[in-house]
Amino acid sequence: MKRSYIREILDAIDENTISFAGGLPNEDLFPSKQLKKASKKVFKNKNSLQYSKSQGIDSLREKIANFYTKYYDFETSKDEILITTGSQQAFDIILKSLDAKNLVVESPSYIGALSAFKILKTNIQEFKTFEQLENILKKDDVIYSISDYQNPSTNTYTKKQREEFANILHKKDVYFIEDAAYSLLSFDGKIRKPISRLYKDKSYHLGTFSKIVAPGLRVGWIRANKELIEKILAVKESLDLHTSTFNQMLIDTYLDENDVFKHIKKNAKNYKKRMNFMADCMEKYLPNFEFKRPKGGMFIYGRFNNIDDSMNLAKEALKENVAFVPAEVFYFDNQKSNEARFNFTNCDFKKTKKGIRLLAKLIK
Ligand SMILES: Cc1ncc(COP(=O)(O)O)c(C=O)c1O
Repeated sequence: MKRSYIREILDAIDENTISFAGGLPNEDLFPSKQLKKASKKVFKNKNSLQYSKSQGIDSLREKIANFYTKYYDFETSKDEILITTGSQQAFDIILKSLDAKNLVVESPSYIGALSAFKILKTNIQEFKTFEQLENILKKDDVIYSISDYQNPSTNTYTKKQREEFANILHKKDVYFIEDAAYSLLSFDGKIRKPISRLYKDKSYHLGTFSKIVAPGLRVGWIRANKELIEKILAVKESLDLHTSTFNQMLIDTYLDENDVFKHIKKNAKNYKKRMNFMADCMEKYLPNFEFKRPKGGMFIYGRFNNIDDSMNLAKEALKENVAFVPAEVFYFDNQKSNEARFNFTNCDFKKTKKGIRLLAKLIK
């Protein structure tokens, strides 16, 4: 079992590296003051240091369920929410509960999900078009998809595509894992409706506080119907009994005392500016890097038309203290690629310009 290339890069970089590699939110935007205030209150409650329910604390699940009903127009009760230790844990939990043999993913796809699926020795197939998807899927297969601002490709399904996707799921009668890690980080203010809303019975919709509050707290969730929740609850218990009580209560108290949507809007506005700055630098200094400006999320993804292996460039760039992610790691079979992913949320403007110019020099 190989470690994730991105985790290895993150270990290799130091304060001198200009990093476009990780999916790190900007720490200057963490609501640190508000979390500190909430943590004082939580510490006063001894239950915060005690064991708690495997499914997650009631009031946090209730808030997440209300959010689904109100903002996604997706009626949800707290019994349909299970709190996970980051949404990363959801992959392991769901797959173990299904004992899945065949899994279908978008191509390219999120490296952390691919690692979780590979370690369980699941047979993985990739799709790029709905036609391919329909040909590949068989009853009770599992499909994993990111519907908004995909990591890495930044692709976002349109309303029509979501309907088409749901039709295929109904026709093939499969299990559907929908990852909404970035769904709330929208640059146009629109919250797009989940595909799972059109395919309720065999779907798992994953959410996380990592990208909208703080990833170090490791609090995420799965939304699924009660029957599926019962099944995954047994696996969740076997892994860690439950997600940190303290961290759940911290987020719960933070949500009581603050308007998280105001916070998310502020972050999205800040990220949009960073994205546009990086995109402008790329257009100026890397004219052979072809990409579309994303509508949300944390990445710019594209292809170098003047080189055929972005892994080589990434290795050379790392020697010059610039890190980005070559796309071959996002393909299940690690095929050679001229595509690459750049994170724009965690680097200041000056370093962003310097890093992009260094890459331009290297390519020359
Ligand atoms: C698409 C996607 N899903 C899930 C995760 C995992 O997030 P976490 O475990 O922090 O909730 C990430 C992290 O980068 C991601 O990009």
